[in-house]
Amino acid sequence: MIDIFQREVIVMSPKIMVLHGPNLNMLGEREPRVYGKLTLDDINNMLQERALHLGIELTIRHSNHEGVLVDEIQEAQVECSGLLINPGALSHYSYALRDALQAANIPVVEIHLSNIYSREPFRRHSVISPVVKGVISGFGPRSYLLGLEAVFYLLNESE
Ligand code: DQA
Repeated sequence: MIDIFQREVIVMSPKIMVLHGPNLNMLGEREPRVYGKLTLDDINNMLQERALHLGIELTIRHSNHEGVLVDEIQEAQVECSGLLINPGALSHYSYALRDALQAANIPVVEIHLSNIYSREPFRRHSVISPVVKGVISGFGPRSYLLGLEAVFYLLNESE
């Protein structure tokens, strides 16, 4: 970018981490009636496309392991200005993830492909939701895109 004095200005794109929790690597094959037919790669490509449009740099990670996700959250806190997370089943019982997210001093948005409030009783409660900025649930793969826009909005709002 060139500023009004014709100097070259380096514009830093905000970095956002996207974290996928347990079993989300099985999307496409896993209960397609609930989670849809898109694979995790399809969703990541959609996210990268939208990120390019918004001028965001994305770091996308997946893990089936709680401790690895805690490590990723701690990394995001240092390296990124926002975090989008689908904690999968850990949403319903992981106090370790909750503590890590509560300690992260960056805006966090929780997303779910399915509407967890319309499903089995154990899924209707998220221990994560009270410590994040907001939750998007029930829009299939679009939940991720809406979530990314929500993090982007929060970052712009805080400037
Ligand atoms: C999920 C909902 C969780 O209950 C489930 O365990 C998942 C996926 C969703 O995206 O709808 O793994 O987080």
